[in-house]
Amino acid sequence: MKTVRVGILGFGTVGAGVVEGLRRNGARIAERTGLNLEVGGIADLDLETDRGVEVDRALLTADAASLVDDPGIDVVAELIGGEGAARELTLRALKAGKPVVTANKALLAEHGKEIFDAVERAEAGLYFEAAVGGGIPILRALCGGLVGERVERMYGILNGTCNYILSRMESDRLSFEHVLAEAQRAGYAEAEPGLDVDGFDTAHKAVILAALAYGAPLPMDGIRVRGIRGIASGEIEYAAELGYRIKLLAIVRQRENGIELRVEPALVPRQHPLASVGGVFNAVAVEGDLTGETMYYGRGAGRYPTASAVIGDLVQAAGDRAAGAAPRPRISSSRSLDLLPAGD
Ligand code: HSE
Repeated sequence: MKTVRVGILGFGTVGAGVVEGLRRNGARIAERTGLNLEVGGIADLDLETDRGVEVDRALLTADAASLVDDPGIDVVAELIGGEGAARELTLRALKAGKPVVTANKALLAEHGKEIFDAVERAEAGLYFEAAVGGGIPILRALCGGLVGERVERMYGILNGTCNYILSRMESDRLSFEHVLAEAQRAGYAEAEPGLDVDGFDTAHKAVILAALAYGAPLPMDGIRVRGIRGIASGEIEYAAELGYRIKLLAIVRQRENGIELRVEPALVPRQHPLASVGGVFNAVAVEGDLTGETMYYGRGAGRYPTASAVIGDLVQAAGDRAAGAAPRPRISSSRSLDLLPAGD
């Protein structure tokens, strides 16, 4: 049995979910993988708030940089979010040759070139399944089963908060503001909910999907992003009368001369599988040249679905490290993709 010590940066919704998930399922993971994942330390600026999970207080620290540098920490889980401390600590860990698992889509989408450049230079990998689609292993599908495909198109629902808001507005005839407050209380929404409702969280995730499918980071500038703020209950009802549901979609298309990427509310016919995706669920369709369309569905936000994706990546990172393997980056910072102006 190999013991791998994990340093958890950020003890919020997801960090606490990872601690609890490892407590519940650690023995099962060890039995199945031969890896004993042990929490070696947890860093957060707020050490007082009760996170609703059992934790040995001796593991808590406010000094995240020292936790990253601690020679007893083998793998770092960056669950702080945002682009400030999260960026610095991720780069610090990679520079020290420690694998990083992150759920931070904004960091990867907004600083992709810098981060993937650091990954190329590091003797450690970056693992980010939790950044897209919550508990749905969509990135594994793109890098694994679908790696032999030319991805022609991907489209789907990538933000649980927006999908929850639109679903509840329709089913219970509630206002946008009322349902947004509910999603915030349930821990689905970003700290800055504008990222959700204005479409940027969806765009971040779509940029990561595109980077994995096409092998290079895409710039966020120039992507057409429209969110759901301002959609009125009446519009949802009117769409329903005509046989449609309004869904916030990300659409990525490979064209001859570049990549098209856009985020916008769309009228989805009721018979389409995406129309029945309700609540905090996400769904992504990937169309490859060999298989045609495959679809991936599951909980896209929340403590435990996201923690599940983080734990899966911790197992992968720990396994790679135990085997002495630094995975070759699948996203090359030296390549660039042409982003097309979005068509209609
Ligand atoms: N705020 C995000 C969402 C969290 O609602 O989908 C998961 O990325």
